[in-house]
Amino acid sequence: MVSARMGSFWCAVLVILAASLLIPTSFADSSQQAPPTQLPGRNALLMGTDWYPEQWPEERWETDLQMMGAAHLNVARLAEFAWSKMEPEQGRFQFDWLERAIRAAEKHHIAIVLGTPTAAPPAWLTQKYPETLRVDENGRRAVHGNRAHGSVTSFKYRELCHRIAEEMAKRFGHDPNVVGWQIDNEYGYSLMSHNDEARQQFQQWLKAKYKMLDALNEHWTTSYWSQTYDNWEEIPIPLGENNPGLMLEWQRFVTYAWTSYQQNQIDAIRAHADERQFITGNFMGYGFDPFDHFVITKPLTFVAWDDYVGTGHLDPDTNGISHDAMRGLKRENFWVIETQPGFVNWAPVNNSLNKGEVRAMAWHDVGHGADEVSYWQWRSALNGQEEIHGTLVAPDGKPVPLREEVARTAKEFADLQAAFRDTRVVSEVALLQDYESRWAINWQKHTDKYDQFAVLKSWYHALRKISQSIDIVSPDVPLERYKLVVAPDLYLIPKERAGHLAEYVKNGGHLVLGPRSGLKDEFNALLTTRQPGYLGEPLGAQVEQYYALEKAIPASGTLGSGDVSVWAELLKTAAPDAEVLLKYGKSNGWLDGQPAVVTRKVGRGRITYVGGVLSDGLVEGAALWMTKASGVAAAFGPVPDGIEASHRVGPNGTVFVLVNFGAETQTVALPREMQSLLDQRKTKEVQLPQYGVAILSDSKKP
Ligand code: GLA
Repeated sequence: MVSARMGSFWCAVLVILAASLLIPTSFADSSQQAPPTQLPGRNALLMGTDWYPEQWPEERWETDLQMMGAAHLNVARLAEFAWSKMEPEQGRFQFDWLERAIRAAEKHHIAIVLGTPTAAPPAWLTQKYPETLRVDENGRRAVHGNRAHGSVTSFKYRELCHRIAEEMAKRFGHDPNVVGWQIDNEYGYSLMSHNDEARQQFQQWLKAKYKMLDALNEHWTTSYWSQTYDNWEEIPIPLGENNPGLMLEWQRFVTYAWTSYQQNQIDAIRAHADERQFITGNFMGYGFDPFDHFVITKPLTFVAWDDYVGTGHLDPDTNGISHDAMRGLKRENFWVIETQPGFVNWAPVNNSLNKGEVRAMAWHDVGHGADEVSYWQWRSALNGQEEIHGTLVAPDGKPVPLREEVARTAKEFADLQAAFRDTRVVSEVALLQDYESRWAINWQKHTDKYDQFAVLKSWYHALRKISQSIDIVSPDVPLERYKLVVAPDLYLIPKERAGHLAEYVKNGGHLVLGPRSGLKDEFNALLTTRQPGYLGEPLGAQVEQYYALEKAIPASGTLGSGDVSVWAELLKTAAPDAEVLLKYGKSNGWLDGQPAVVTRKVGRGRITYVGGVLSDGLVEGAALWMTKASGVAAAFGPVPDGIEASHRVGPNGTVFVLVNFGAETQTVALPREMQSLLDQRKTKEVQLPQYGVAILSDSKKP
């Protein structure tokens, strides 16, 4: 029998449990376990480089490794382009040289990540099996001498990739100094073969998905322009403009093709490798979108990405968006497995980052959730396409001027490891991104001025200034941890997704939908309800008509006054409690005086619809209003313009990362006394010159 005392105890537990389910729990479990990006027994913040020992005489290796060790580097990625050295002829594997390189690195405490070499198949392979070469849209087969020339859909190629990955794993799967694996390299930029083998696989894939051709014809409305298919073999790989349903399925097939190509190698490695060895891939940030990154990163231990500025200088928002989007793929910390040592060789102008900027960039990476930063590359090959890319070591074998800055930063990483151990980025605000919506809008932009990235960035900029931390996640993940969720332009809102989002609102969240939201279903077909589709009912309003604008039009209301440009939607309220926050001024007649932004309280939460692309001032007004309405607060507090504040939360409190990207020296007042970790002192204020960094430890958790 449960005593009365025990009864009230359990009641209290239940109340606490229930409350923890209802209240946004952004910080609840952020520090329970070490992030998978932090390797047991290793530094919590790692810094490394890409080393290609196969390009250098073995007598030189020791010098290189000594130099790496002296620069406090503790990771090197090896072998991702060394297929011809590891398998010089089919079935003859030579790994002794690699083993010697790994052992030599071990002596200098440099952990190894092995790349599978499948982004660059050797000449014997493509000569012997020409069907493994990629065929482009014009029917041209790739030739040897570049990379990404293998065909992802070639069964023969996959068999050969499996074999080399397997042999590598047999040899190094238990190697104590090999901490993990990278599959392939940047997934061949996702290029696809346009040959019979690829087309037949696409058709088979469609057949498995739709089962009946009638269903496919119906969802794609193929009666339009005589597109009706009578057998699966008639379905083409879309080239240029085609049926939106077909185009979306092809893009999903591209995701499937690369995901299964990746899985083929994961299986080969996992069959022989220790569990402790991670498996990742090197992705290319927010801007690269030919496949759905949420899908392809699912089987990986964590996400790694290649962070290059190219021409110009680091823009904390643009780079921050990529970091936050890459972190959002698995909602975990990540690695920057490649970054530029000053400059690259492939941008329109390969200018160098300024003195101090490389260090600032590395700390910016950490503030956004990076647990490792690696410079591509150690030393340039003396010939080959990338001879004049930035490096840490010049062709004469001596360090370049940037070496000191990298060594200083690497030392700081090593010194501050305890502070960053088990820490993660936490945010109260999320931006939603959906690859399928991105593709679908880009195929039917309706105005070439509509720039999805610019729309996202304007929200990011305004919201981050207020909240100082943003997650960029899929619309389909659990959202309860966020007080505010903004979907800048969520085009595809099928029923299930709408239900998920409505649930979030009902339980106390604030969902903001931007223009173009909810026009389409999962087949890229128009919904038969007006925008925002199934979410029109909770919103208590709908979009009567959308308009591509020739020029900016005025708008004003509770959110302030400013312009709407590029895109405007005419909203109409249906529910009496739907509140209009912004109205259009004089414009095309249709929009004059009509609602542009509508909001409504629903359940314990709120849903808001923004019908146009707002000018910067209006976005700021809207961000201010919505963060206030949702109770979002800055994690650090006010900072001068040009300073970016980020934070990570762990078992011992919060670590703030402040970086000054502005040109002027700034003094930042701290919200309370904190420990400044780079100079080991307690302080209430820090002074930051351009590219200056402060790392502040605060025992208080948000
Ligand atoms: C990419 C590749 C590397 C190298 C760098 C150069 O990220 O993965 O192999 O080519 O670019 O910037």
